[in-house]
Amino acid sequence: AAVAGRTAGTWRFEPVAPNNRDRVTVPRGFRADVLISWGDAVEKGAPRFDVDNQTPEAAAKQFGYNNDYVGVLPHPEDRRGGVLVTNHEYTDEQLMFPTGRYDSATIKRIAMASHGMSVVELVRGSKAGSWNVQKLRKTTLNRRLHVGSQFQLVGPAAGDERLRTAADETGREVLGTFNNCAGGLTPWGTVLSGEENFNGYFDASGPLDARYTASYARYGISGTGRGWNEVDERFDLAVEPHEPFRHGWIVELDPYDPDSTPRKHTMLGRMKHEGANVTIADNGKVVVYMGDDERFDYIYRFVSAGTYDPSGTRRARRRNLRLLTTGTLSVARFDGDGLDDERYDGSGTWIPLASDTESFVEGFSVADVLIDTRLAADQVAPTKMDRPEDIEVNPVNGRVYCALTNNANRDTPEETDEANPLFQSQTRPSLGAPLVTQGGNRNGYVLEMTPGNDNHAGRDFFWSLMLVCGDPAAPETYFAGFPKEQVSPISCPDNVAFDPEGNLWISTDGNVLGSNDGLFRVPVRGPERGRVQQFATVPFGAECCGPFIHPDGKSVFLAPQHPGETNGATFETPSSTWPNREGFPRPSVVVVYER
Ligand code: FEO
Ligand code: CA
Ligand code: CA
Ligand code: CA
Repeated sequence: AAVAGRTAGTWRFEPVAPNNRDRVTVPRGFRADVLISWGDAVEKGAPRFDVDNQTPEAAAKQFGYNNDYVGVLPHPEDRRGGVLVTNHEYTDEQLMFPTGRYDSATIKRIAMASHGMSVVELVRGSKAGSWNVQKLRKTTLNRRLHVGSQFQLVGPAAGDERLRTAADETGREVLGTFNNCAGGLTPWGTVLSGEENFNGYFDASGPLDARYTASYARYGISGTGRGWNEVDERFDLAVEPHEPFRHGWIVELDPYDPDSTPRKHTMLGRMKHEGANVTIADNGKVVVYMGDDERFDYIYRFVSAGTYDPSGTRRARRRNLRLLTTGTLSVARFDGDGLDDERYDGSGTWIPLASDTESFVEGFSVADVLIDTRLAADQVAPTKMDRPEDIEVNPVNGRVYCALTNNANRDTPEETDEANPLFQSQTRPSLGAPLVTQGGNRNGYVLEMTPGNDNHAGRDFFWSLMLVCGDPAAPETYFAGFPKEQVSPISCPDNVAFDPEGNLWISTDGNVLGSNDGLFRVPVRGPERGRVQQFATVPFGAECCGPFIHPDGKSVFLAPQHPGETNGATFETPSSTWPNREGFPRPSVVVVYER
């Protein structure tokens, strides 16, 4: 749907050059405002942030650490309002706490409360495209979800013996969500959030439970965590072997009902969920695309049993809220058509793993497939990908775009296939240094998938690597055929979004070309297809999370995460002091708009 006036899709800008500045850099003619930062008040009663007097109780009401996913929904009552939902993936204790000021248990409790999600009401600012945080006393929806918040496990595996613990004999009531990375909005006005590296939160004071050796190993649950068992023994595998099975799910949060209990959807499988994005197939089924962010892991798809009700009534919304609990979970196989066409492309198949009533994997029950999804998928020979991150449907052309961020470990020709073709690539040790060849796919790909017959619920698709990322001077790079001398270098795509014109926006995490991470716009059709232009760089040491392009096309939200997270940096010796120059960095959400 075209939008009146200039929008993110039609903005003309001079690309931002690679740099190492400790700031958000946007093109001339644009402005970047910090909306909200770690420690700012979210819930009523939150004290003013004071880095020297942090408490777990304060952190549970303040904006959490390391903002990642960003979504902005319409405000239910205020036409000039919005509802911001963010994830808080993890914490950088070495940058959060003055050395020696807090005891170890207090640091852990504050860190636990600083994970999770935030819901924050916004209001439009005086300039077109600008936004502000709503005054706290005027809000009714603001909410913090953290390690102590109540969640409900739903779907076919809920209540399974493996999901029961000493504290929860039902296997349905879980406290907390953590390592929430990317996410997506549903057409019925909820937010999906991916529990990603949940494996890293469990320590073990004794031997691991032998029943779960294979499962723990496949998910990287080793008994080496963040020491949270010091303050809560459910994070001790020797005490509570089932707690890890209650994490690694897709969370659905209803931001319009501050009293609602967010749900963890077992039907969407358990993995290191980068995120989840929804589209409605032509037959009305809800389709969810998901990536499992691990080297050599898979891309998944869920198709609902029921159909989406677009009527907008309360009854329709209640029905829609149940759509993710029944359906079929599948995993992707990519077949190449050979390199004679000089393209990395081919066809693909969705291999079904389980429906809510039937397993399609021999030796696995429905609950086995949903709880040990990786082990089940291993049985059906899907394609091992280079860290599938965000995957999302372009609402204009209906194609699916997935960021495959990198895989340093795919470093022999025998390990390659047409969808994962590189076993070496060129990087730059620092800005301006010459390119050097390294083993592995270091700069990542952007994969484009086209459903067969344009049917997102069907079995087949076509695919191509639209971008082979890196410095355009590196011979292996490819930008959908666009002239290389006219594109910005791009490395390690992580999150994707679309503007109202259907251009792809890509944020990066882990640039190995010597520059800070950033945000890029890429047209996907016409003569400009593949023209990668850098729109922003984020502060030193940060990755660029978000992004979210407002549906009106006037604002681009981004979420610089972990500014200053560099080797050896401490609270006293930070490598970033963005955004407030207080002497230490604060992860923050930023809105960018035309001046
Ligand atoms: Fe948290 Fe896959 O990035
Ligand atoms: Ca080919
Ligand atoms: Ca990510
Ligand atoms: Ca990432």
